[in-house]
Amino acid sequence: MATPSAPIEIIDAGYYQDNGYPFHMWDKLRKDSPVAYCEHPNLLPFYAISRYDDIIDISRQPMLFESAPLLVVQPQQMMEQQIRSIINMDPPDHRVYRQVMSKYFTKRRLNESQPQMDKVAKQILDAVAAKGEDVDFVDEVSKILPLAVIAELLGLPEADRDQFFKWTNEVVGSLDPDFARDDGTVGTELAIKAIQEVFEYCTAFVEDRRKTPTDDLTSVLANAKINGEYLPPLELLSYIFILIIAGNETTRNATSGGMLALIQHPEQLEYAVKHPEVVDSMVEEIVRWTSPIIHFCRTPNKDVTLHGVNIQAGEHIAMFYPSANRDETVFDDPYRFDILRSPNQHLGYGIGEHLCLGAHLARVELRAIFKGILQRVKHVELSANPNRLKSSLIGGIKSLPVKMEFAA
Ligand code: HEM
Repeated sequence: MATPSAPIEIIDAGYYQDNGYPFHMWDKLRKDSPVAYCEHPNLLPFYAISRYDDIIDISRQPMLFESAPLLVVQPQQMMEQQIRSIINMDPPDHRVYRQVMSKYFTKRRLNESQPQMDKVAKQILDAVAAKGEDVDFVDEVSKILPLAVIAELLGLPEADRDQFFKWTNEVVGSLDPDFARDDGTVGTELAIKAIQEVFEYCTAFVEDRRKTPTDDLTSVLANAKINGEYLPPLELLSYIFILIIAGNETTRNATSGGMLALIQHPEQLEYAVKHPEVVDSMVEEIVRWTSPIIHFCRTPNKDVTLHGVNIQAGEHIAMFYPSANRDETVFDDPYRFDILRSPNQHLGYGIGEHLCLGAHLARVELRAIFKGILQRVKHVELSANPNRLKSSLIGGIKSLPVKMEFAA
């Protein structure tokens, strides 16, 4: 049997920028070619995995399907060579390193921070209400809470937050001309430069926290020991780096995409305003609907056969989460945005060994923002089309111009 092939658009950053997610292509892949070979002229070849059940099976076998060889199919794959963090480690190291942080990201602990998050969300929305009707929802709302929260958790000084925001955009949006540096640096070179600068900054920061620990997570990481030794510099800096990136890029885009979905489904927004107790279920549906992470990769260390397709050890596969979250064999009417959807076991946060460490944090943040919006929104509409990020890793929205009327 000839190996089925996948359209290159599913990995083409420019396609995502111009069109958003290629749902119709994933629908066809799920139906006819659940394991399809994709060969983009500028990227490493890979097999596209589009079905929900397959992503679960693969993610639950980390001893066979490894994360370390390749995490994303993008020029950023070059960038991965610069970092060694839990997201691209495999067992047994992965578990040992994840344990260093896992107790700080439990549901119980993060739920305790809900009142504080609600307060920050209220301040953000107060500022929007004071500003008047026309706002860029990304600048004025979505970007602020995730950035403030991760900076606070890590103890990053307030004055440096904008710089961190810039660095994360440069890494995740390195292909996007909007994030090119004034000297023209863009692409892989830009991503690598930004990582080096983050590492330089954090090296001094970590040294400081080792000498004078505080109650922030940088102090925990700087002083953690594995087998009696401090974390080696690369692993330590990569840990901080991945928390900053993951803590920022994903929740911001879920917030923007969630607002867009509510604008496009006014009956759902109206219902939620009348029944704010549905906010938790609404947040889950927003993450299913937006699926901010487009793909992550795995590489089998032995030859495997999936749906009749032979994949050799060392070849790469990419799992497409937004496709899994529209899988009609799992979700009833998957293209219906339904804030009351139940069950809703989406894969937006991944599953298995690398299940998102920050999932509860994201839930608390999204709950705070959307609860705040439901309490006071009187009217909201799009005033121009969203401007999308050039990326096939993150479904990013760079700007979302809206007219919003808020009760003060
Ligand atoms: C809506 C928001 C979020 C989404 C959609 C999301 C999505 C994901 C996904 C799909 C993975 C799986 C990676 C894999 O299997 O290879 C993951 C892992 C991870 N996420 Fe998130 N994430 C979100 C928020 C956050 C936040 C706020 C943090 C902040 C700390 C975070 C930190 C991480 C880390 C550290 C990992 C790696 C875990 C591991 O390898 O064990 N994420 N995330």
